[in-house]
Amino acid sequence: MNSGLWLKKVVAKIDRLDAELILAEVLGVSRAGLHAHPERILTDTEVTLADGMVARRGKGEPVAYIVGWKEFFGRKFEVNRDVLVPRPETEALVEAIIDLGPRKVLDVGTGSGVIAISLALELLGVGVVGLDISEKALGVARSNAEELGAKVEFLKSDLLGVDAEKNPHSVLEENTLRARPSLRGAGAGVRLEVDDQRSSLPQFPLEYCADSSECAGLRSVGAGVRLEVFSGGMESGDSVKVLGLFDVIVANLPYVDRGWWWNSGELGFEPEDALFAGDGGLELIKRLVVQAPEHLERGGRLVLEADEVQHGEIIEFTEAFGWELERIWGLALVFRLG
Ligand SMILES: C[S@@+](CC[C@H](N)C(=O)[O-])C[C@H]1O[C@@H](n2cnc3c(N)ncnc32)[C@H](O)[C@@H]1O
Repeated sequence: MNSGLWLKKVVAKIDRLDAELILAEVLGVSRAGLHAHPERILTDTEVTLADGMVARRGKGEPVAYIVGWKEFFGRKFEVNRDVLVPRPETEALVEAIIDLGPRKVLDVGTGSGVIAISLALELLGVGVVGLDISEKALGVARSNAEELGAKVEFLKSDLLGVDAEKNPHSVLEENTLRARPSLRGAGAGVRLEVDDQRSSLPQFPLEYCADSSECAGLRSVGAGVRLEVFSGGMESGDSVKVLGLFDVIVANLPYVDRGWWWNSGELGFEPEDALFAGDGGLELIKRLVVQAPEHLERGGRLVLEADEVQHGEIIEFTEAFGWELERIWGLALVFRLG
C-alpha cells in the first residue's frame, strides 16, 4: 500500500490532520514530504506501526502523546503523559509577556516548559525560572530546554514555595538568592536576615525550622531574605535555593472544575494534577495571587491563564489584593502590582 491509499483508508476513522501527523512521524518526514510523495510504498512494519497509532487515536488519546511532540510558539516540544498537552491558546501568555520585555520571569506550573522555554528563546538576555510540583514534568521540561538550547532553571515547588530538600543545593543561578549554612554552634536551625525593606520577618514560618529535620522541609522564604542554615546535614559552604525577585510571574495552573460539562474524553489521558483544581477551578490561582507579591519587583506583572467564565471572579479577587488589571489577551489576564 502507498501513503496516499493509507491516508484515504484511515480518514474514515480519524481526522485527516492527525492521520498525516501519524504517518509523517512513522516515516520520519514532514507533512509536506508526505504530500509530495503519495506514491511512497509503505513496508509492513510501517503499516502495522501507523495502524496501531490510529487505533490509539480512535480511543481518544491526544495525537501529541501518540507522536511524542507538540508544536508551541513555532517550536517542537517533547510531550508525554507526565505533562499537559500544550494548548495553542497558551501562546497568548507568551505574546503578552514579550510585549512587556521583562528581565526576569518566573513560570509557575511549567509542565513541559513551553512558556518558560519560549520566553528564554524569544527574549534576549532574560533570566527564566520554571517551577512545578511534578518531578516527572520537570524532567520533560529540562529535556526540552536542552534540546532547544534554552537556558532555564527548573525547580520543584509547591506554587512559590521552593523546597530546599527537593532541589540540589550545590548549584545556584543568578535568579536565586544565596543561603549559606553555618556549622557554628551546636543547635540546629536557621537565621533569617532581611536585605530588602519590602520584606518583613513575620511573613515567614520560622517554626518550620525549629530543628534540623524541619529545616530540610523549609517551604516559604520571601524575597530579599538571607537564610542561614546550621546543621541539617549540610556542609559549610553549601547553599539552599531561595527564589529571588522577578518582573513577571506567569502561570498556566490547573483551572478545570471537575463539574464542567467538557470535563470528559481526551482530558482522561492527561495528568489530573495538571488539569483540576478545587474552588470552581480557582484554588491554585487564588493561592498564587496571594503569594506572588513577595517575589515581584515593584510594578511587576502577574500573568494568568484561565477560562473566560472565570475571568470575572479572578479579577474581583485579585483587585481585592491590590492588583490592577492591565490587559486581557485571549485567555490571558495581565495584572500589575500597584
Ligand atoms: C495546566 S498545566 C500547564 C503546563 C504548562 N505551563 C502549559 O502551559 O502547557 C499545570 C501545571 O501545574 C503543575 N502544578 C499543579 N499544582 C501545582 C503546585 N501546587 N505547584 C506547582 N505546580 C503545580 C502541574 O504539575 C502542571 O504541570
